[in-house]
Amino acid sequence: MKIIKTVLEMQSFSEEKRCAGKKIGFVPTMGFLHKGHLSLVKKAREECDIVIVSIFVNPTQFSPSEDFDNYPKDFETDRKLCEAEKVDAIFFPSESEMYNSPQTFVEVNELGRVLCGKSRPSHFRGVTTVVAKLLNITKPHKAYFGQKDFQQFVIVTKMVKDLNFDLKIVGCPIVREEDGLAMSSRNKYLSPDERKQAPALNSSLQTAQETFSSGETDAAKVKGAVTKAIVDAGAKPDYVEIVDASSLKPVKQIEKGNLLAIAAFFGKARLIDNRVFE
Ligand code: PAJ
Repeated sequence: MKIIKTVLEMQSFSEEKRCAGKKIGFVPTMGFLHKGHLSLVKKAREECDIVIVSIFVNPTQFSPSEDFDNYPKDFETDRKLCEAEKVDAIFFPSESEMYNSPQTFVEVNELGRVLCGKSRPSHFRGVTTVVAKLLNITKPHKAYFGQKDFQQFVIVTKMVKDLNFDLKIVGCPIVREEDGLAMSSRNKYLSPDERKQAPALNSSLQTAQETFSSGETDAAKVKGAVTKAIVDAGAKPDYVEIVDASSLKPVKQIEKGNLLAIAAFFGKARLIDNRVFE
């Protein structure tokens, strides 16, 4: 497995593989890898000849008040995990390798302003800009994104369509802990008590699904019940929304395929979770 730190070397690695007729799968991450990330790597391994994982904690998607400086890092463990999954190359650039006083940004307008975009105003501009750069650097045929970050998946898919990137975005299901908590590098911030409260996010999503299955389609009522369940568990909801899964616009009457998305604070940790109504 290669560890590649420069843009030029990464581009020539990928170019060589493409010229040899290999299909490249790419998994962008910010490291501190867990089973959620690894599910994307496994999918890429199944579907592609060459698998590239990037590890880069991207400063431009954090606001000044967020956790950029404290974001968990453990490159040695990440390297071993990638090796075990038979990853071909890790792209592990420094900040200065990625950014040199840039003046160009990629922004997906409306989709980036709702849900997480409301409380994190420049977040998705940072994400789409770095993902566009990483796609130009790793030149994949397929790039893998988790539906844990459903809005990010929708936004990146739209960017790729709007800008005619010649690749396919593949969405992968949410991987959860045994008690239902969606795996996230940020779960590390939870105190033991908060860790016990946090599965309430998933159980409130499950209850919402059951309510819908038994005939309730009023989005306001379902949102109210989900919000109450999260507050009762001891968390502070940032938002609870039921939206169309591609336009991310709110719906009044729930239909199959709509998305229920939640963000909530458990102490300092802001966790997100979601579920598509079946
Ligand atoms: P990061 O939070 O490290 O996540 C990398 C990828 O792993 C994302 O596609 C995310 O949705 C996926 N992922 C995380 N937890 C998951 C889980 N429990 N189940 C399934 N997939 C999961 O998302 C980012 O990094 C960054 O914004 C990035 C795209 C790398 C751009 O900087």
